[in-house]
Amino acid sequence: MKYALLSLLGLMGLAQSKELQDVYTPKDMLSTPRPHPAIASPDGAHAVSVVDQWDPEDDKIHRSVYLLSLNTTHTLPPLSLFNTSSAQASQFLWLDHANLAYLNGSCLYSFSIEYNITKPPTTPASSPKEILTFPEGVNPTGLQFEPKSGSLAFSGQVWKESGDLNQTSKYDKSWEERSDSAWVYDELFVRHWDEWRVPGKVWTLGAIKLSHESGVWQADHHEKGEKFVNLLKDTGLYSQMDPISSFTLTSNTIAASIKTPHLNYATHTREDIYLLPLPGHTSYSSPKHLTPHSHGAISALTFSPDGKKLAWLEMKKDGYESDKRVIVVHEEGKGIKRWTEDWDRSPSSLTWSLDSNSLYFTAEHHGRILPYHLTHPDHLPTPLYFNGSTTSITPLTERTILLSQQSLTSPSDDFILTLPDPKKKHGKPLGFASDGRDKDGDKLPHDSLRRLTAWSARFIKDRLEGLEGEEFWFEGAEGKEVMGWAVKPRGWEEGQKRTWPLVSLLPVVRFVKCRVADDTIDTILSGGPQGAWEDSWSTRWNPAVFASQGYFVIAINPTGSTGYGQDFTDAIQGDWGGKPFKDLLAGYQAALAKYPEIDSDRTAALGASYGGYMINWINGHNDHFGFKALVCHDGVFDTVTTYFSTEEVWFPTQDFAGTPLTYRANYERWSPVNHAVEWTTPELVIQGGKDYRLENSQGLGAFTALQTQGVPSRFVYFPDENHWVLKPHNSLKWHHEVFKWLQEWVGTAHDDSEVSEQDVMRPKFIIQA
Ligand SMILES: *[C@@H]1O[C@H](CO)[C@@H](O)[C@H](O)[C@H]1NC(C)=O
Ligand SMILES: *[C@@H]1O[C@H](CO)[C@@H](O)[C@H](O)[C@H]1NC(C)=O
Ligand SMILES: *[C@@H]1O[C@H](CO)[C@@H](O)[C@H](O)[C@H]1NC(C)=O
Ligand SMILES: *[C@@H]1O[C@H](CO)[C@@H](O)[C@H](O)[C@H]1NC(C)=O
Ligand SMILES: *[C@@H]1O[C@H](CO)[C@@H](O)[C@H](O)[C@H]1NC(C)=O
Ligand SMILES: *[C@@H]1O[C@H](CO)[C@@H](O)[C@H](O)[C@H]1NC(C)=O
Repeated sequence: MKYALLSLLGLMGLAQSKELQDVYTPKDMLSTPRPHPAIASPDGAHAVSVVDQWDPEDDKIHRSVYLLSLNTTHTLPPLSLFNTSSAQASQFLWLDHANLAYLNGSCLYSFSIEYNITKPPTTPASSPKEILTFPEGVNPTGLQFEPKSGSLAFSGQVWKESGDLNQTSKYDKSWEERSDSAWVYDELFVRHWDEWRVPGKVWTLGAIKLSHESGVWQADHHEKGEKFVNLLKDTGLYSQMDPISSFTLTSNTIAASIKTPHLNYATHTREDIYLLPLPGHTSYSSPKHLTPHSHGAISALTFSPDGKKLAWLEMKKDGYESDKRVIVVHEEGKGIKRWTEDWDRSPSSLTWSLDSNSLYFTAEHHGRILPYHLTHPDHLPTPLYFNGSTTSITPLTERTILLSQQSLTSPSDDFILTLPDPKKKHGKPLGFASDGRDKDGDKLPHDSLRRLTAWSARFIKDRLEGLEGEEFWFEGAEGKEVMGWAVKPRGWEEGQKRTWPLVSLLPVVRFVKCRVADDTIDTILSGGPQGAWEDSWSTRWNPAVFASQGYFVIAINPTGSTGYGQDFTDAIQGDWGGKPFKDLLAGYQAALAKYPEIDSDRTAALGASYGGYMINWINGHNDHFGFKALVCHDGVFDTVTTYFSTEEVWFPTQDFAGTPLTYRANYERWSPVNHAVEWTTPELVIQGGKDYRLENSQGLGAFTALQTQGVPSRFVYFPDENHWVLKPHNSLKWHHEVFKWLQEWVGTAHDDSEVSEQDVMRPKFIIQA
């Protein structure tokens, strides 16, 4: 997601005689467990589940590691293996069916789960043991293990000049101890996301062999220590400043996707696939380049279990990060075949079936992320489940799949999906119309989804019921059907009549009489622009948290969004304030018409990133909406200065159909600064100091324009946050400031909202000279 556009429209709920459920506060959200998708053991019998949880008392994130039994007929509760912190246990992987490995600092540990799982002991069978220590400064990440050869591969940092992983710390030291403080660059990137690039230091791929004897694991040694190999030494292939995230192993080969070395990192997205031998093998004497044809970014490399096929996701256009991803399969001796060329969806993950013949993957579709199965290059993918969003998919057997599922009102949990027996008739085929809407919901019987975990049940119980997203469609720009999510406020009751609510509201809503007939709307604009509001969980811009405060929330997926076909995604190019603006307006009006309980006089819009751009754009065009307040988080103020200060230069170049040096008119046409003279709507501006995508000048620029024109405004600056607000206490403060702003300008619905009356103070404004 690039410039996240958050588009929520909310309004105050009408309360009723029924007792109001408890509010789900930002603190509740931040202390709700955050599970990582479970990782299945090679035999599919168990999975390891890692669950993080913030404790507001000590302000620490605690990590709990559990073992799940994947027995499809006999459910056992998750077994607690150990409790620790993320620094002491990360990057979990299975060494075999009974041994788990993980990184503890720079040491690799192993842990045996060999005991009677049907009768869980209270203490684990063995304590974790150290296998090896990575050289200092390497920061290994993306660990993968190939059991047949015992190869452990990773991405790690090395200095170009040395090329030896075991010398990284020596070079680090001389960099830190240099007498001056200058950073010297000859090419972009200078910085990326929230980091400055250390000139001369790159990311590479490394490997080491592991072996075991009577249950004890160890690494290949020589007299000086462990034998780590830099697989890219002397190849001219490195990653300039990010880990190499997509690679896959067979017993003798590693295939990796690496940014094309002769192309500039900041202006190109193209990556190429190279095959390299693993240590001890001589399959290739030099890296074999597999993808000389013209293309863009490549991701999700995966070898089939039999090692004969390599699959990946490929974009056509270099420089376009939101182009459609197509599944491509390379088979030794048979060449390259494109499996989903004609399918108008963009897969986002990829896994082979156990028999190496078919593929499982996830893809966005109409505001959801669905799991798919594709059995043949010339077939259309079949969606396996139609509810919520799937964040991880792992085949366990021919007919059972491990899924991580979530929704707007439920954080991620793990499930087993059992597919219908292909030999038995099961009614209608699992059809799918790529353009039609899916009105028929789930395509499979619901009992086929078997719950393995319920990490957050205790936290969301009695708090988020009834706040499930409701999809709504309307006619947007150029007559296109556009979708949005509506999340009704806590206290909302189905079947409320417009003329009724006055009565029932009284006991629970603060501004009872004067505000009753009307509710408050508030809008968060969505992700990308080439992203979408999905029926999925997030700890940033969580619509349910806004709805729980008493705001009716709408989140629209306008032109540029993903999951509605590539044409819809592409259509935002060169038209940032055009069709998306029309879609948002049409969606806003459709919501007001569909939900007459909304008070159109008390609406607000909130957005981040591209959403923040849209906020600044709307402030110059608010007569169409009539929002009473706006919130802009890390948004674009000036499209021209953004181009010259952002890091992923390919992005504005693609989205504005050129650079400001060659196509300046297009940038000027859609730049919010050019309409800042018309700004009159109160705006809260939030900026992260380590956001190098949309850096300080954007937030400061908007605030200066607001202040010097006497527009009510406030600037909230987080010096230690990037494009996102990640630290729990900063997130609490963020929510507090946002809710305070909303309460000030559009009011609240409930007494127990996050902000008290005393908290609301009119900000001081500069009176224009
Ligand atoms: C699942 O559990 C049942 C009952 O304990 C057992 O009979 C069966 O063998 C188990 N299945 C597998 C695949 O372990
Ligand atoms: C981990 O912590 C939980 C919660 O405090 C506790 O129930 C569990 O027994 C602990 N696990 C181990 C292995 O100590
Ligand atoms: C991590 O390593 C430290 C020693 O550096 C040790 O005390 C701790 O128990 C280890 N934790 C885990 C979860 O392996
Ligand atoms: C595991 O425990 C169950 C229940 O006590 C017992 O029936 C079974 O024989 C045990 N299995 C093994 C392999 O020890
Ligand atoms: C460092 O790695 C190189 C190979 O890359 C090896 O020749 C050398 O012996 C290693 N040095 C130490 C101290 O491990
Ligand atoms: C879809 O998921 C929601 C929770 O996210 C659940 O309440 C609902 O029952 C599910 N619908 C179906 C048809 O399974």
